[in-house]
Formats: sequence, C-alpha cells, structure tokens
Amino acid sequence: MTDVRRPGLFLSFEGMDGSGKTTQMSLLIDRLRQEGYDVLETAEPGGTPIGRQIRRILLDGANQELSSRAELLLYFACRAQNVDEWIRPALTAGRIVVSDRFTDSTLAYQGAGRGLPLDTIHALHRFACGPTAPDLTIYLDIDRAIGLARAHARNAERAAAAQPDETRIDDEAPEFHDRVHQAYAALCDNEPNRIRRIDAAQDIGQVHADIWDAVASRVAAHALRKGPAHV
Ligand code: TYD
Repeated sequence: MTDVRRPGLFLSFEGMDGSGKTTQMSLLIDRLRQEGYDVLETAEPGGTPIGRQIRRILLDGANQELSSRAELLLYFACRAQNVDEWIRPALTAGRIVVSDRFTDSTLAYQGAGRGLPLDTIHALHRFACGPTAPDLTIYLDIDRAIGLARAHARNAERAAAAQPDETRIDDEAPEFHDRVHQAYAALCDNEPNRIRRIDAAQDIGQVHADIWDAVASRVAAHALRKGPAHV
C-alpha cells in the first residue's frame, strides 16, 4: 500500500473507542519531536478545518437520520480533504504524518459494523486517497466492554463540560462494537507487516514502549529529514 514516490513516513493509529489512542498518539508525537523529527498530527474524522466541520455532522448524537451510505461518503469526503490539503504535501516534504484513524476504521465500522460492501469501501479509498496509505498502523487492542466503559465515561465528562456531543457511534449496540472488534482482528491477520497489534490493557508506559519499538525501526529505515524541534 506504500506510495514509493514520496519520502515521508505515514503512521496511523487504530482502535476501538476508549483504547487510549489519544494518550498514546500524543506520547509518540512528543517523543518523535524531541528526537528532532518534523511531525504532522492529524485525525479522521477531523484534521483540516473543513474536516472538523464534517466531523461535527458525523458524530453529533442528534443526527440519528444520517443514512449508512451518507455516513460512508462523509468519512471519505473528510479523508479526501485531509489527503489533499495536509497529508500528501507533508509526505512529499519528507515529514512524518501521524493520523488518529484512517481507512481501516471505515473497513471496521462501516464495513463490518454497518454491513456496507468492502469492495465499495476499497474503491472509495482509491478515489479519495489515491496511493496515499499508512506505512505502519498501530492497532491498540482493547476488550470491547472496557473500551466502551471508558468512552462512555469520557462522553459524560464532555456533556458535563458542555462540549459538543460526539456520541453517535459510541451509542451503537454492543453487537455493532463486537463486529468492529472482529474486523480489526481480521485486518491484523491479513496485513501483519503493516499493522502492529498492541495490547492496550497494559499500563501506559508499556504500551508506549511497544509502540516505540514498532515505530523506531521504520523511522530509522526511512531517510527522514529532521526539522526544528517543536518542544
Ligand atoms: P475518534 O475521534 O477516534 O473517537 P474515539 O476517541 O472515541 O475513538 O473517532 C470518532 C468515531 O468515528 C469513532 O466512534 C469511530 C468512528 N469512525 C468511523 O465509524 N469510520 C471511520 O472511517 C472513522 C475514521 C471513524
């Protein structure tokens, strides 16, 4: 899946809601920047200003009428914008891109979760992203019940702080989340060279150490430009 024509390195994080992705991404990004690498941090859905507007539609718990096909197209609209505006230029410039989720999420949530056809998702990926795809994906594997309990606690905190409602997907039935979890397991089996599965039930320091172990060798193998330290 790697686009061999560009010098940068594309890393993505995947995992069920509440797997600790946000914490682990920021630990990794801080460490890469401390080592002098030039890192672009992005997210799906989100990232660019236009992507953040699309995110609001996708995650607002009030949007119960959003159809599965409209949802799928909005995720890819967001991703196409992210690739065109941020990700591809950063990779061309030799930077490290770290994205919170990418197309694996769509395969898991819209493919397995919603039951939409995988060949359509692959075709949309090719249209939206061209050859741009992660070189390495960190999958934080968490028990579905633990992850959802953490996600619901976070959603309650957001509601108490009057932050925007982002509960639409978290509020799906347990069977939906089970299908998503199974889909991630299958993706790991199918692409062991790209996707590194990490046990997210370990303590924060050990999860970070496992992630660094996976990332450091890829970073070293790439002739990456070191930029000004950001920290
Ligand atoms: P995210 O911001 O990563 O939230 P969390 O920290 O709860 O994991 O993702 C938002 C939600 O969007 C999450 O429930 C997964 C869902 N999602 C999809 O259903 N399809 C996609 O393609 C992506 C990128 C995310």
